[in-house]
Amino acid sequence: MHNMKHRILFLLLSYLLLSNQLIHSIPGIIPQPKEVTSGKGVFELTKFITIIYQDERQAENAEYLYDELKKEYGFSLLINQKNRPQNGSIFLKENPTIPEEGYKLTVDKKQIICEASTPTGMFYAIQSFLQSIISEDKSYFILCMNVEDAPRYPWRGMMLDVARHFHNKETVMNLLDAMARLKMNRFHWHLTDEDGWRIEIKKYPKLTQEGAVGNWSDRMAYPKYFSQQDVKEIVEYARLRHITVIPEIDMPGHASAASRAYPEISAGGEGRWAGFTFHPAKESTYRFLEDVLTEVAELFPGPYIHIGGDEVHFGNQVWFTDPQIQKFIKDKQLGDESGLEHYFLRRVSDIVKNLGKTTVGWDEMIASGIPSHQAVIMWWRHDKREQLEKALSQGFNVVMTPRIPCYLDFVQDNTQKIGRRWGTDFNSLFTVYKFPKPVESIISAYPDQIMGMQASVWTERMAGTKRLYYMIFPRLVAISENAWSADKVKNYDSFMKRLKNFLLYLDRKGINYFNPFDVNSTPEPWGPTKKDVIAEG
Ligand code: ACM
Repeated sequence: MHNMKHRILFLLLSYLLLSNQLIHSIPGIIPQPKEVTSGKGVFELTKFITIIYQDERQAENAEYLYDELKKEYGFSLLINQKNRPQNGSIFLKENPTIPEEGYKLTVDKKQIICEASTPTGMFYAIQSFLQSIISEDKSYFILCMNVEDAPRYPWRGMMLDVARHFHNKETVMNLLDAMARLKMNRFHWHLTDEDGWRIEIKKYPKLTQEGAVGNWSDRMAYPKYFSQQDVKEIVEYARLRHITVIPEIDMPGHASAASRAYPEISAGGEGRWAGFTFHPAKESTYRFLEDVLTEVAELFPGPYIHIGGDEVHFGNQVWFTDPQIQKFIKDKQLGDESGLEHYFLRRVSDIVKNLGKTTVGWDEMIASGIPSHQAVIMWWRHDKREQLEKALSQGFNVVMTPRIPCYLDFVQDNTQKIGRRWGTDFNSLFTVYKFPKPVESIISAYPDQIMGMQASVWTERMAGTKRLYYMIFPRLVAISENAWSADKVKNYDSFMKRLKNFLLYLDRKGINYFNPFDVNSTPEPWGPTKKDVIAEG
């Protein structure tokens, strides 16, 4: 009986394949590859398949593939290192002619061949393979096909704010898993802000003993932070998924949590902005920050440290009256408080440079006088396109994450009650998917300076995991396609078809999402407080 069903399914799949409509729906490779050519027939995945890798440096990829097939489908395949494929194998083959992050995936009835010139390219071949598995009635198939692929941009990222509301190691790892499946490779970790300092610094224990107390909803919430051991585990977990982690220690503003722990290096604003900035005129502040960044540089092997630099004017009122600060401005001939802000950023960027890292900063940093080769700019103020143009014309490398459409704390459907809006604008899946078309006329003149783009997930109104996932998915999937796929292969109808396949992956992982196919099936998880509904702009 089972055999009969199996046959019918096999015939059905072969028929569907011939009907020639499938290549954009099944397989659901997302982001859309450069080229997909369909073949005839299917490869049947069984527990007798062997994973064979040619080069020792692919051993971690082979193990990753083994683990994913085991977790998702219950397979326990054999793994071998050999020079040749065999019938019924998944072969990880070296091919030095393929570009660095590119890959080829060839599926015929007898075998699957993943080809790349680097472990990263091979990892992406594996993702496309995993996304192509069709599971029906306890049988597993892959349609015969050839895929040739390589990314549009090298920076395909997501920022997660764990300062406003803490989100734990397991959640971060789930997000890294999903990013990996989408071939995303930069995890920007916003670790410090007004509501909490979330990374252990051995030299300054009060940063977490006191600075990690509270969150956006509850000033006295139990302290939550990542120990250095947690950080090491997350960085290693990301490394195995070919994801670079970029830590952000926000300064000189957004420093209120550090100010609560060490008021002696604080020069905050008033009321709501109490303790908002580090004290820019004390040598002890710069020594403190150098110590902090030295520990951070050791924990994160990637080339970047993000030092924030945003919105200093929100809470630097004290700078205008504090005699020590005013004297400092005069003595150093900085002109005014803005000049002081730029001095601060230059000085800390030099610390980052001396630690062997490249500075990353929000777009306020453009005006700081930091040399363009020394910093990467994140363009975030979508209403100030001139900031994007300025960064590029001054020679900076740029990562794009404009509020509209890359901030995922904006609502994604007009019916939603919790989350940001900008006037009447918000970030629907379709709005997200159109990016970067609206800025193409600016960026097309600087193809070598646009590193890519990222989703930014600010968590003021995301206290729980279910709500966090709901705001991230499926919009992150659209960002992944914007960052990976050339404009000429993007198509929203095709995207929506392939998205269905990715939603099945989220279902298997138990990750919540907003369902654009059935808006009522996934009610908006409620946020933490009455302050939830806001508008701005
Ligand atoms: C930001 O949204 N303040 C970078």
